[in-house]
Amino acid sequence: MPGFEIIGEEEKKELLDVLSRKVLFRYEFDKERKGVYKVGEFEKVFAQYCGANHALAVSSGTAALRVALAGLGIAPGDEVITQGFTFVATWESILDAGAIPVFTEIDETLCMDPEDLEKKITPRTRAIIPVHMCGSQARIKEITKVAEKHGVPVVEDTAQSCGGRLNGKSLGTFGKIGTFSFDSVKTITTGEGGMIITDDRELYVKCSEYHDHGHDHNPNVGRGLEKRNFIGLNYRMMELQGALGLAQLSKLDNVILPNQKQNKAQIKDRLSRIEQVTFRNIPDEEGDTATFLIFFLPSEEKARAFNQAMTEAGAGCVYWYENTWHYYDRWEHLLEGKSVLRYSYPFKTEEGNVRCSYSKGALPRTAAILSRALCIPINIYMEEQLPKILNAVEKAARVL
Ligand SMILES: Cc1ncc(COP(=O)(O)O)c(C=O)c1O
Repeated sequence: MPGFEIIGEEEKKELLDVLSRKVLFRYEFDKERKGVYKVGEFEKVFAQYCGANHALAVSSGTAALRVALAGLGIAPGDEVITQGFTFVATWESILDAGAIPVFTEIDETLCMDPEDLEKKITPRTRAIIPVHMCGSQARIKEITKVAEKHGVPVVEDTAQSCGGRLNGKSLGTFGKIGTFSFDSVKTITTGEGGMIITDDRELYVKCSEYHDHGHDHNPNVGRGLEKRNFIGLNYRMMELQGALGLAQLSKLDNVILPNQKQNKAQIKDRLSRIEQVTFRNIPDEEGDTATFLIFFLPSEEKARAFNQAMTEAGAGCVYWYENTWHYYDRWEHLLEGKSVLRYSYPFKTEEGNVRCSYSKGALPRTAAILSRALCIPINIYMEEQLPKILNAVEKAARVL
């Protein structure tokens, strides 16, 4: 997930272009900006890149989820289904909307299991957020099919898979609305930032107004005279981020993705010669962004031994099973219902009754899958790392 690796002259040029006009804000200052709208331009090319009708840039991937849920009208008491392997932001945004996160198991795609999704739908389910984890596709067609059957909208959390496709169609365009992150470690980065895409004009307008204090963005009056259809908040992206996004997006298909794919293929080739190693299920290898290489050992014990040997050889893997930011069983603040708010909202009601609670071990299939999974992060440039990783794999193979 390394857009920062290729920050260079293009990004500098874009940033200086903004600074030279001294207009850092995406709205207003029409005279001073001399027709230059970096955020607006970034939205336009991002929508084109994904093949979506509308794109709305926001301040982060978390903001993108929060605004998408607001646009869909998600309210306190609604249930929103997501998966037990994702970054905390996915369910934080659900709780922030007052809604109740419900977690599904993952399957060997490491994304939402469509069969478990079907079991978790109730009459209170108002949205489903599958997450295209670690650069690759969820079984999104099966997921949208289940969602359609029950008349529930799908929000695709594509924060980790910008540039990913399934049979040529961009991830984020399968559901009602798709969200992206451009934070410090993402495939393309604007420092902090996010994007929402949708084909639904009405939904786009709601999100656009909500993310900017309700401004109706009437081009015929000044900003101060604009009207409001409803209350909102501020989740705006600024011009410097839009400028960075333009430079980064221009490198996605021609530098970032091909380099990552080549690096990933080299490591995968070596790993595939180890009999006991199997690989994450990727529904469409062609559309994989290749930001991570994830493989399975036959047991937790073997995964730990393999990783120990990799670590001793100077190329330790990411072991998501122990990661405290991405895996349900390790989210102790969620499991213990810790909140900074009065009366422990959103976990309790003012009367002290439980609104929602979560217990460790509730997702045994997810645990079984993650306990056997090891992950090698892939970069754009790996000339120095590659020999070290390949050598570590060689050594680790001997402990199996
Ligand atoms: C799956 C997922 N969703 C949402 C986010 C939130 O993005 P941001 O850090 O831009 O708020 C992240 C960030 O890591 C993520 O991985």
